[in-house]
Amino acid sequence: MTFHFETVKDVNFYHLVENCDSCYEKGSVRVYPSGCILQKHFKQYAMEIKNFKVYSDDIWVISYPKSGTTWTQEMVWLIENNLDFVTARRTLQRDRFPFFEVKCALLRDQKTLHPLQMIDCLKRPRFIKSHLPVDLLPAQLWTVKPKIIYVVRNPKDVAISYYYHHRLMHGYRGNINTFVEIFLSGNVAYGPYWRHVLDFWKLRDEPNVLINSFEDMKKDICSVINKTSRFLGRTLNEDQVTALAQYLSFESMKNNSSVNFHNTGPDNEVIDFIRKGEVGQAPDELEPDLIERFDAWSSRHLRDTDYHGSL
Ligand code: A3P
Repeated sequence: MTFHFETVKDVNFYHLVENCDSCYEKGSVRVYPSGCILQKHFKQYAMEIKNFKVYSDDIWVISYPKSGTTWTQEMVWLIENNLDFVTARRTLQRDRFPFFEVKCALLRDQKTLHPLQMIDCLKRPRFIKSHLPVDLLPAQLWTVKPKIIYVVRNPKDVAISYYYHHRLMHGYRGNINTFVEIFLSGNVAYGPYWRHVLDFWKLRDEPNVLINSFEDMKKDICSVINKTSRFLGRTLNEDQVTALAQYLSFESMKNNSSVNFHNTGPDNEVIDFIRKGEVGQAPDELEPDLIERFDAWSSRHLRDTDYHGSL
C-alpha cells in the first residue's frame, strides 16, 4: 500500500482554517486513496500506523466522527467489563478506550514520547477508538482480525452534529449552512463521508466486523446490546440488558462526566458534547434547498452501490 499526500488548497478548507481556533491549519493533507483530510504531521506516522501491531483480542470501535462513537464505546466497554458501571463512571472514557490516532492526526503534543506508544502498551484486551478510513488503518486488522464495531449514522445528522462539535471543540465562527456546504465538498477533517462509510460497508460480511447504526440504537437499544453482545461472544440476561440500556440512555450519558463535558462556543453559547442525540434534525437546522441538495449528493454517491444503511 502506498499513500499519496496532497496539500489541501480548497477554498472551503481555507474557510475552516480562518474560522476555527484549532484542528485546521495550512499545510494539512489529503491522504489518498480515500482522500481523508488530516493534519500535516500525519505524514510522518502513516506507515507506522499501517504497520501497527494488532492483537486478536483487541476491540476496535471505528466510525466517521459524530456517528455515535462515544455511545458505542460505552456499550462495548461495559459488555466486555461485566457491566462495571462504577469504574465506567469513575474513569474518563478516553482513558478506558483511547483514541488511536489523536496525536498523529489531530493534536500535536510535544510532551508525548511517541504518539502510538500509549496505545501499543495498553493493558490487554485493548479498547481502541479510531476515525481513520479503511485504507489508513493498520493492515493487521484484516489479517489478525480482532473484533471491530463500526457505527454509522445518517449523513445529515452527522453533518449537523459535526457543526456543533466544531463550535464546541474548535471555536468555529461560521454558520451551519456554510459548514454543511463544506461537509458536502469533503473538506472537513476526516474528509469525504461516503467513501468512509462505503469502504466499511463492503466489509460488513467479514466475521470480525459488526456494523451498527445510530438510528437502530435510538429505536431499540436493547436489540443492539443483544446483537453486539452476541458478536463479542458474551451473554447478558434480561436484567443486565435493562440495566445497560438505562446506563446508555441519553439523560444518563448527559449526566455522566466520564463521557460528557461542555464548553462555551464563539457566541457564548454553552454546548454539551452529549448534545441532543436525535434522529432527523435537518428540518429544524438547515435551509430546505440545502436539504434537497444534500439528498441529491447522497443519491449520487449511492448510485451503483447496494448500501441500505442509515440515510
Ligand atoms: P448530537 O450532536 O446530534 O447530539 P460521537 O461520539 O461519534 O462524537 O457522536 C456524538 C453524537 O452522539 C452527539 O450527537 C451525541 O449527542 C450523540 N450521543 C451520545 N450519546 C448518546 C446517547 N446516549 N443517546 C443518544 N445520542 C447520543
